[in-house]
Amino acid sequence: MSLLLLRAFPLISLRSNPLPLLRAILKPFPKPRPTSRAAFSVSASASASTIPIPNPKSSLPPNNNALEWVSRTGFCGDLADADVGKRVRLCGWVALHRVHGGLTFLNLRDHTGIVQVTTLPDEFPDAHSKINDLRLEYVVAVEGIVRSRPSESVNKKMKTGFIEVAAEHVQVLNAVKSKLPFLVTTAEDAKDSVKEEIRLRYRCLDLRRHQMNFNIMLRHKVVKLIRRYLEDTHGFVEIETPILSKSTPEGARDYLVPSRVQPGTFYALPQSPQLFKQMLMVSGFDKYYQIARCFRDEDLRADRQPEFTQLDMEMAFTPLEDMLRLNEDLIRKVFLEINGVQLPNPFPRLTYAEAMSRYGSDRPDIRFDLELKDVSDIFSDSPFRVFADTLKSGGIIKVLCVPSGAKNYSNTALKKGDIYNEAIKSGAKGLPYLKVMDDGGLEGIPVLVSSLDPINKERLLSRCSAGPGDLMLFAVGQHASVNRTLDRLRLFVGHELGLVDHSRHSILWVTDFPMFEWNDAEQRLEALHHPFTAPNPEDMDDLASARALAYDMVYNGVEIGGGSLRIYKRDVQQKVLETVGISPEQAEAKFGYLLEALDMGAPPHGGIAFGLDRLVMLLAGANSIRDVIAFPKTTTAQCALTRSPSEVDPQQLKDLSFQN
Ligand code: AMO
Repeated sequence: MSLLLLRAFPLISLRSNPLPLLRAILKPFPKPRPTSRAAFSVSASASASTIPIPNPKSSLPPNNNALEWVSRTGFCGDLADADVGKRVRLCGWVALHRVHGGLTFLNLRDHTGIVQVTTLPDEFPDAHSKINDLRLEYVVAVEGIVRSRPSESVNKKMKTGFIEVAAEHVQVLNAVKSKLPFLVTTAEDAKDSVKEEIRLRYRCLDLRRHQMNFNIMLRHKVVKLIRRYLEDTHGFVEIETPILSKSTPEGARDYLVPSRVQPGTFYALPQSPQLFKQMLMVSGFDKYYQIARCFRDEDLRADRQPEFTQLDMEMAFTPLEDMLRLNEDLIRKVFLEINGVQLPNPFPRLTYAEAMSRYGSDRPDIRFDLELKDVSDIFSDSPFRVFADTLKSGGIIKVLCVPSGAKNYSNTALKKGDIYNEAIKSGAKGLPYLKVMDDGGLEGIPVLVSSLDPINKERLLSRCSAGPGDLMLFAVGQHASVNRTLDRLRLFVGHELGLVDHSRHSILWVTDFPMFEWNDAEQRLEALHHPFTAPNPEDMDDLASARALAYDMVYNGVEIGGGSLRIYKRDVQQKVLETVGISPEQAEAKFGYLLEALDMGAPPHGGIAFGLDRLVMLLAGANSIRDVIAFPKTTTAQCALTRSPSEVDPQQLKDLSFQN
């Protein structure tokens, strides 16, 4: 087999019994045969048992380029025992093709599933020879009788495995004229064997795969369920908001669109419909939702796309508890109806401060128990200079204690292995550690061991609940960096040592976020959520360190949604904008319309946005949101299918005043 062919069909070399597929692929492309159009001229309304038997002699003159529309009597995956004896006409793709004992079989696939088609060479030689000539992914119409399969060829793994269709007439609606870059049906695990860039490049083939079809259909079901629930149970109204708009600060870079008619000015694509939904509350719509497309020019990850979809919601006159309850009910319903999973009622809650202190993260995965311990006080007079100096400069020391970790991680691994690299990738300068030996002694970095007198050693062991065989990993520095390192190590160890209980569903609210965090690079406070979030009324005296009425919903360590109650009075809004360094003039220029609206009878309101892609990814058990988006962007923000972004015609640039 040529190298080229192997490359074009990479799965061939990986399958245990590739011969039938190879035969199908290597077979020369058949010359299209004349088709009998009259054979398929029955109307779409003909029932399964009333299709007229075609008369082959009444064929029209062959025309291979003719476009033909054939009516179906049903769908492949819907056929069942009850259909045995019925005459059917099915349309679909050739999913598998094999010759066996003088008979030819094919699996015919449509959007509902697969059914086996077999031939009757003696009775219907024309259909038999046509089926022989088919190749994978040809589009065909097959007419025949549904019959039970002989018991020895029943396939219990297939939904339609008890029956098959004996083909009497076959029509090729479209042949495959180019080499397929990968196989569809056998490629259920193509995710692992075909490179993602090839899958994205040939997305229409990739979307034919069962897994991808399942994911996209699941997405559809989730959206349908959400719409029904919000509209029918709670009276939400779906309202579209503009795509060509003005930048709102959600923390990422904007995608800009130049205006032709206002040269030198730009629209921004919405990072979220935040301010529009607030306007709708001022307009009196009470409960708004939208399946909203959002655009953020930020670094991409498995759960981030430059163009993604939010379930965006806003409600007027709704206090915090009602807001959380409604959203819990919604998500509980989605998990129950889509996956049969019963989530807790109510969802557990953690304050931001608690989440950061115990897990080092505002989206902790609590399917496993490892918790961080602050041990700063134990080292306050430590002779170990690195620790003591950090504490003096306002830093902290925290420990992640890994039960039985001493034997799982050798000293070499802790000094230069993967776990060490994780610490370095998080920004740490090293990975101080201590192992508790069987005799209760400590082993690890010698100056750390010797810095602990017996009293502090006991305090450390007891604070970390550490005993023989356990491993203590230290992070030292400012709060944010210590938490970042231990969060990363906690997840690494949790997954590597199999501590994550995959049968658990960890869902929780994180609440009481600080209003602001310090941006070191810009030397100013910035809003942790966005600057339209209401401060906790108890903290109004010191706005800079106030807690926000903000909440995130976290599932298995992924932030699936976030929102807040909003500022609905102009003077409070202006104060918050000032706190993040936006002058009244800048505020007027950027958000004048919001400030104006807040002065025109804005009701108390609040809302949330869920990352729809992330939610569906988690429900589908997929590893990346790209697997639940029909046409996602690559990790370099390109559309592999259309090859965008791309250069444009110079005339277009001229029109936009970019070129003379
Ligand atoms: P936030 O910025 O937290 O809030 O976004 C809400 C949810 O959207 C998802 N998300 C993303 N999903 C995929 N790719 C991305 N690049 C991406 N960025 C965010 C996350 C996140 O929880 N206007 C506020 C909501 C509000 O306050 O009502 C907002 O957009 O799951």
